[in-house]
Amino acid sequence: MVRGDTVEYGAPLPAETRAWRVIRALAGYARRTAMDSRPCEDPGDGHWTWRPDQGWVAARPATDPVERDLLDLYLPLCAPVGDGCRMTAHLGQSLDGYIATANGDSCFVTGPDNIRHLHRMRALSDGVLVGTETAVRDDPRLTTRLVPGANPVRVILDRQRRLGSHLRVFTDGAAATLLCCDRAHVSAGRDRQGQARVIGLPIRDGRLDLTALLETLADLGLRRIFVEGGGATVSAFLTAGLLDRLQLAVAPLLIGTGRPGLRIPAPERLADARRPAVRLFRMGADLLYDLDLRRESAAVPLTPVTRVL
Ligand SMILES: NC(=O)c1ccc[n+]([C@@H]2O[C@H](COP(=O)([O-])OP(=O)(O)OC[C@H]3O[C@@H](n4cnc5c(N)ncnc54)[C@H](OP(=O)(O)O)[C@@H]3O)[C@@H](O)[C@H]2O)c1
Repeated sequence: MVRGDTVEYGAPLPAETRAWRVIRALAGYARRTAMDSRPCEDPGDGHWTWRPDQGWVAARPATDPVERDLLDLYLPLCAPVGDGCRMTAHLGQSLDGYIATANGDSCFVTGPDNIRHLHRMRALSDGVLVGTETAVRDDPRLTTRLVPGANPVRVILDRQRRLGSHLRVFTDGAAATLLCCDRAHVSAGRDRQGQARVIGLPIRDGRLDLTALLETLADLGLRRIFVEGGGATVSAFLTAGLLDRLQLAVAPLLIGTGRPGLRIPAPERLADARRPAVRLFRMGADLLYDLDLRRESAAVPLTPVTRVL
């Protein structure tokens, strides 16, 4: 379908497989090709056209509902990235707004369809980023093992270098890993953590300087970054105005009290609360709110559509 990728026509594929191949092919094309300045009329066989004002447009719209829904959800993430990084964050939370119990148990807040979605998001990203507490509590692998697609580079925030070298991201060799810490903790002979490379960053207001972090990641060629938690880390990026898209998966679950999801500065008046443009997707029993943080809902028609993945 797209030159240089391995999409082939032949026996009909299950809709999910077919859609995922197209999504990966178009994401790969956008990654390799400068498409910002003018419409790209023919990225391959003429079936898909890139239009800067509309995104990817198909000559023949998908008719299978599963294929259509997957294309709807993921094609906006297959757009070319301009300057810097394009940042998407995700949290899976209970109906009462928690992402884990008070002692940090988060296996699993959301169901298998949303977990598969996380693996797809990783596959569409150059880097997947988590905070210190998530690395400690979950010891995640952050790979794409549930879907076809390359593992992203794993980016772990650890300001004080308190994480142990035994964690899987530092030992399993499944993908490159960057450990990002206060530059005061990097010195000759202390520039590795297990198999990970250590990146020293400036500190701003007692925290890692996230703007400097993104500049560093962009310099390394990591432009599509997926922030996978936890709540403190996603909140820090959101508060700093560094997120382009926020995905909140809400599970029909009541935790009562626990680790909160978003914690952001509160406006005094409800009228001043943010109302980003939103799309709504159903993932098994969970609902995914896909928020475009660069557009307010007042600026576009609010037409959430319930999708089934
Ligand atoms: N349901 C989900 O979607 C989901 C996803 C991921 C994790 N989890 C769960 O959530 C819990 C962890 O979440 P969490 O909110 O407690 O912690 P977190 O976001 O994983 O980590 C927060 C820590 O990262 C460090 N950090 C470094 N630079 C930072 C910066 N610029 N801004 C903010 N923090 C920075 C801070 O440590 P320093 O003080 O050392 O700087 C901070 O304490 C775990 O229980 C995990 O299982 C759930």
